[in-house]
Amino acid sequence: MQQPTFTIAAGLEIPRLGFGTFLLDGDDAYRSVRTALETGYRHVDTAQGYRNEAEVGRALADSEVDRDDVFVTTKLTPSHAAAPEVRRSTEESLRQLGVDRVDLLLLHWPAEHVAPLEETLEAMSAVRDDGLTRAIGVSNFPSAMLRRAYELAPIVTDQVEHHPFLAVGPIERVLEDHGGFLTAYSPIAKGEVLADPTLNEVGDAHGVSAIQVTLRWMLQRPAVVAIPKSRTEERIRANFDVFGFELTEQEMARIDGVDRGYRIVDPDGGPDWD
Ligand SMILES: NC(=O)c1ccc[n+]([C@@H]2O[C@H](COP(=O)([O-])OP(=O)(O)OC[C@H]3O[C@@H](n4cnc5c(N)ncnc54)[C@H](OP(=O)(O)O)[C@@H]3O)[C@@H](O)[C@H]2O)c1
Repeated sequence: MQQPTFTIAAGLEIPRLGFGTFLLDGDDAYRSVRTALETGYRHVDTAQGYRNEAEVGRALADSEVDRDDVFVTTKLTPSHAAAPEVRRSTEESLRQLGVDRVDLLLLHWPAEHVAPLEETLEAMSAVRDDGLTRAIGVSNFPSAMLRRAYELAPIVTDQVEHHPFLAVGPIERVLEDHGGFLTAYSPIAKGEVLADPTLNEVGDAHGVSAIQVTLRWMLQRPAVVAIPKSRTEERIRANFDVFGFELTEQEMARIDGVDRGYRIVDPDGGPDWD
C-alpha cells in the first residue's frame, strides 16, 4: 500500500497518516519531528496551544525533506477567535514555524464565548484567501455545530477524538455529505488499544501490534486521517510501519464492534457530544 492521501482540492492532498505533537516540547519536539520526517511521515500536526511551533518549524527547516513535501497543520487557540486576533495569531504561528503559509488552519475548540462562529470562520476564510493557509477546518465540533460551520465557510475537516473505543458516526456523516474528511486525534487511545483482546487477536493474525491494527483500520476507510504521537524513536517508526499488511472486511467489521463510547479528552467547558 502506498502512503494514502485524501484530496482536499486540486493540487492539495493531505497524507492520511500524520504525526501528532501534543505534549512534545523543546528538544523532544525537535528530535521527534526530525525522526518522523526521516521515517517517512509527510504531515505534522501542531497547535498554538502546544507551544512547540518554533521547534516543529526548526525540525522542518533542518530536515532533508522539502518544506513543500510536508503538510503542516496548526490550530488557532480559542481565545484568539475574534477576527483581529485570528489574523494576528495566524501571522505569529507562521513566524514561529518559519513558513510563509501552513497547509491547514483549524479552530482548536468551539469558541462562541469569545466570538460568534460566523466571525471566526469569516476571519479564517479571509486568511485563507490571503494565502496564510491553504485550507481551514474545525476541531472538537459535534455534528450539529459542524453542520452549521459548513453553512458558513469552506471547511475541510473536523479533528476530533476517534479510536476503536469511540465511534463518531454522526460527525462522519456530516463530513461525507460535504466531501470532507475526519481527522482522528488520540487515534490509538493514548496507547490504551494495546490492552484490547480483539485488536491483539487481529494483530496476532498479521504479526503486528494492536496499535498497527488500529492505524491500518483507519487507513482502510476512505476519508479518515490519523495523527498518532510518540516521543519514542522506535514507536514513531513502528506507527508508520502499517503499509505491509491488509485487514479483511471481516476484521474491519470486528474492529468496528470494539466501540464502547469511551472518551478520553473531555475538558470542563468542552462541547456536548453526540
Ligand atoms: N484537536 C485536539 O483537541 C487534540 C486533542 C488531543 C490530541 N490532538 C492531536 O492528536 C495527536 C495524537 O493524540 P494524543 O497524543 O492525544 O494520543 P495518541 O497518539 O493516541 O497516543 C499517544 C500516547 O501513546 C503512546 N504511544 C505512541 N505510540 C506507541 C506505541 N507504538 N506503543 C506504545 N505506546 C505508544 C505515546 O507514548 P510516548 O510518546 O511516550 O512514546 C503517548 O503516550 C496529538 O499529539 C495532537 O497532535 C489534538
